[in-house]
Amino acid sequence: MDLGLKGKNVIISGGASNIGYGITLAFAKEGANVAIADIDEEQANRAAEKARSLGVKAMVVLADATSHDAVAAALKKVLGEFGKVDVLVNNVGWDRIAFFTETNPELWDRLLTINFKTDLNWISAVLPHMSQNGGGAIVNIGSDAGRLGEAREAVYSGCKGAVIAFSKAIAREAGRFNIRVNVVCPSLVAPEKPEEVGAKSAWKEPPVPPEVLEKALKAYPLRKGAAPKDIASAVVFLASDTAAGIITGQTLSVDGGYAMV
Ligand SMILES: NC(=O)c1ccc[n+]([C@@H]2O[C@H](COP(=O)([O-])OP(=O)(O)OC[C@H]3O[C@@H](n4cnc5c(N)ncnc54)[C@H](O)[C@@H]3O)[C@@H](O)[C@H]2O)c1
Repeated sequence: MDLGLKGKNVIISGGASNIGYGITLAFAKEGANVAIADIDEEQANRAAEKARSLGVKAMVVLADATSHDAVAAALKKVLGEFGKVDVLVNNVGWDRIAFFTETNPELWDRLLTINFKTDLNWISAVLPHMSQNGGGAIVNIGSDAGRLGEAREAVYSGCKGAVIAFSKAIAREAGRFNIRVNVVCPSLVAPEKPEEVGAKSAWKEPPVPPEVLEKALKAYPLRKGAAPKDIASAVVFLASDTAAGIITGQTLSVDGGYAMV
């Protein structure tokens, strides 16, 4: 199916490593131009080079998504290069595995900023542009933790739940401007190849030991985890007006059946 993404301009915040890398290349394979907004210049350049080899325009814009000003400046650069933004993907996220009683307010602030405020920063930047330009699609990367609640991920679960509720609210507010907002919740996704992981990725040093990963995957009905490309397929589908033009405010788990919500 032609998803109609050829020639569209896409910003992927956190598009350099692992899931973000997969999303960047999936859009490039659909013929969309990609702007990789990340804090890891070296890895973002690697992803951009790979995207260019697929025949699309790819740019790297250094943008710490936790900073409102940095995001506004990054959007300006992307518009300077591409002229228009059709799709925004918010992929930045991070967790530290610990019981809530072992955490502290400093860590809560960090988790809230990286997992939730990054989405607020990027969405507040692009909404005026998209609403003046006939619409757009936004896909936020959530987590099953935000749907089910996960032990030892209490604050992260709360943040991702906030991403889901916020996305629904923005979908209601922005629908009249032809802007669609959806969420994709991945299962455990480990990078497939070393070149998919940069220095700033949580998977530079795997956060989960292999035996724990294996055990967790056995709990999924399909008995296997997702690859970055599996998450990316759902993202490009939801970003496509051709395939998903009537879908907004939805949360889709791509997780081997773990969260049947
Ligand atoms: N990997 C999983 O198992 C899993 C499971 C469920 C949900 N998720 C969610 O999927 C998303 C991607 O996860 P991942 O494991 O691929 O992450 P990752 O750590 O491998 O990659 C994150 C990317 O974001 C960039 N980044 C980090 N901080 C940034 C900032 N402040 N501003 C801009 N860019 C920044 C990194 O350089 C990297 O390119 C996250 O939102 C995560 O919460 C991941």
